[in-house]
Amino acid sequence: MNTKQRYTITAALPYTNGPVHIGHLAGVYIPADIFTRYQKAKGNDAIYICGSDEHGVPITIRAKKEGITPQQVVDKYHAIIKKSFSDFGIEFDNYSRTSAPIHHETASDFFKKLYDADKFIEKTAKQLYDAQEQQFLADRFVTGTCPKCGYEHAYGDQCEKCGTSLSPMELINPVSTISGNKPIVKETKHWYLPLNEYEKWLREWILDGHAKDWKPNVRGQVKSWLDDGLRPRAVTRDLDWGVPVPVKGAEGKVLYVWFDAPIGYISATKEWASKMQQDWRPYWQDAETKLVHFIGKDNIVFHTIIFPAMLKAHGDFILPDNVPANEFLNLEGDKISTSRNWAVWLHEYLEEFPGKQDVLRYVLTANAPENKDNDFTWKDFQARNNNELVGNLGNFINRVLVLTQKYYKGIVPQPEAFTDADKDILKEVKNYPKRIGDLIERYRFREALSEYMNLARLGNKYLADEEPWKQVKQDPERVKTIMFVALQIAAALSVLGEVFLPFAAKKLKNMLNLQDISWDEVSQKDVLITSGHQIEKPELLFEKIDDETVEKQVQKLFDTKKQNEIDNQSIVPQKEEIDFDDFMKMDIRTATILTAEKMPKAKKLLVLKVDTGLDTRTIVSGIAEHFTPEEIVEKKVLVLVNLKPRKLRGVESQGMILMTETADGKLVFVKPDDEVSNGMIIS
Ligand code: 2FM
Ligand code: ZN
Repeated sequence: MNTKQRYTITAALPYTNGPVHIGHLAGVYIPADIFTRYQKAKGNDAIYICGSDEHGVPITIRAKKEGITPQQVVDKYHAIIKKSFSDFGIEFDNYSRTSAPIHHETASDFFKKLYDADKFIEKTAKQLYDAQEQQFLADRFVTGTCPKCGYEHAYGDQCEKCGTSLSPMELINPVSTISGNKPIVKETKHWYLPLNEYEKWLREWILDGHAKDWKPNVRGQVKSWLDDGLRPRAVTRDLDWGVPVPVKGAEGKVLYVWFDAPIGYISATKEWASKMQQDWRPYWQDAETKLVHFIGKDNIVFHTIIFPAMLKAHGDFILPDNVPANEFLNLEGDKISTSRNWAVWLHEYLEEFPGKQDVLRYVLTANAPENKDNDFTWKDFQARNNNELVGNLGNFINRVLVLTQKYYKGIVPQPEAFTDADKDILKEVKNYPKRIGDLIERYRFREALSEYMNLARLGNKYLADEEPWKQVKQDPERVKTIMFVALQIAAALSVLGEVFLPFAAKKLKNMLNLQDISWDEVSQKDVLITSGHQIEKPELLFEKIDDETVEKQVQKLFDTKKQNEIDNQSIVPQKEEIDFDDFMKMDIRTATILTAEKMPKAKKLLVLKVDTGLDTRTIVSGIAEHFTPEEIVEKKVLVLVNLKPRKLRGVESQGMILMTETADGKLVFVKPDDEVSNGMIIS
């Protein structure tokens, strides 16, 4: 007999300093959702656990920047994230948050247990300190030059250019990101988890043990960390935002965010259990339970080395059965970035594409970065929707439902004798639950989805081969059988689709007027939808997405890029100080350009006649590549009139017109706000 397998399925707790984007969805939340839905459909006891990761330095930096408290920052994003997940059909059993009291208590107890059991090393070390702000500068509170690659904006914990993991003390020319000051070095006490003591055990457990079937990208990273040798790692920080370190002499210190966040999986399970009046312990303490962590590749070390070492040191908990980490999703060829606003934000997508959750779920699964980084493009989004969802799945369902209405008023017909082709099809349908399920069990969601779409393809091919619309006149009895078979495929699609496309599957189930059929019943039952059963009026499952819609999205990204370029324009540093008298020496006047002509044989030069109020004089200006003579005639300008005359291509230039440049390199005239008569002095 099939016994129920228990699963504790976790998805990386998203940082609460910004909303969720498609990279998060493709990497973590959609695959974990498919996996959990599948395990539940199989009748297993699975819970899907997540929550907001609300501690850490970036949140405090954001709060400072916005002039609000860290709690206000996390409240804002926690609400946005939670709602968007729910509207998108990510069905967590519990979505908690690390600022919740249950989490503080659980994380605090966890630390205390390790502390009491002498599992930490207490060490006083030198650290950077912002004397003005009276604060130690951990992680992202300090930037400087990377000692490895020379990148000037490396963070205290990592260089984003070369990927090296750093400590603030290693940075060259460090600067406090709070005040911009040069930090001083000061001593501070912290608690370290001696990872080196777990190295041998980790090697056996992961590399030689049951984790042999982990994904190659995960094993590869683990191996390289272990080969490099593990060192003690500080699990506390000098910060006023987080879970306070629960020991004497640790005032003003909190648990390192990467120490408390994974414990969040445990506290979120406890919170769920108490709401459901269940016991949380089997989900974390029963050796038979399978613990699965869905994460992105930047989280691998924390879930395969640090958290397992913490769990091992604690001793009361099970270890992960698998850590299926994905690679990264790029957007239109560029790395997704919250700070550069280079992303498709889930909450915005939901507003701009109402009712189209499954389209994004489909595209992000079909194109998931399972083994390598992948790219999301709006063109691909449109093509997959129009060709695959509308053209294949939607088309099959629509044909079946419309023909059933047309021929039989929506009543499932009584089949006659089945041909060999019919029997083959019905047999083949029964293979799909296992075929798809095996791929999901092996975390191959792209292939699993592709198999699901093959079932729709099978249906389309069957209809195309049998052509019921042609046969209906001569052989109506045969058509009854064909439609009966096609309806069985449609019913199977409604059951198996629930894990990938929950909204469409539900709609299909409603249209077929089907009661619950389990995943396994699709392979066990000969008939999923019986003769005489009344189905509902058909509606389209998917609709085409037009060019205009995707072009709008591409334009939005283009605007973002442009805005980023403007924001990143480097501002030239201030010039050397001058005296007031130096300034007073300059005679700048309001003036009007009277005529403009191209200087012969000089691409860049225009010869201008300018009314300065004092006189009409000639000025040679290097603006010919930016303006035509016609467009500048009669322009009001500012002119430095006492600049020593100089000859340019034989023409004496008697002054200089003041100009500046826009962010995208366009020259513009500097001129007074209001129209002023010529000859007025600027001072
Ligand atoms: O990378 C991140 O977004 C982290 N907030 C993930 C934390 S996962 C866990 F350990 F909670
Ligand atoms: Zn570097």
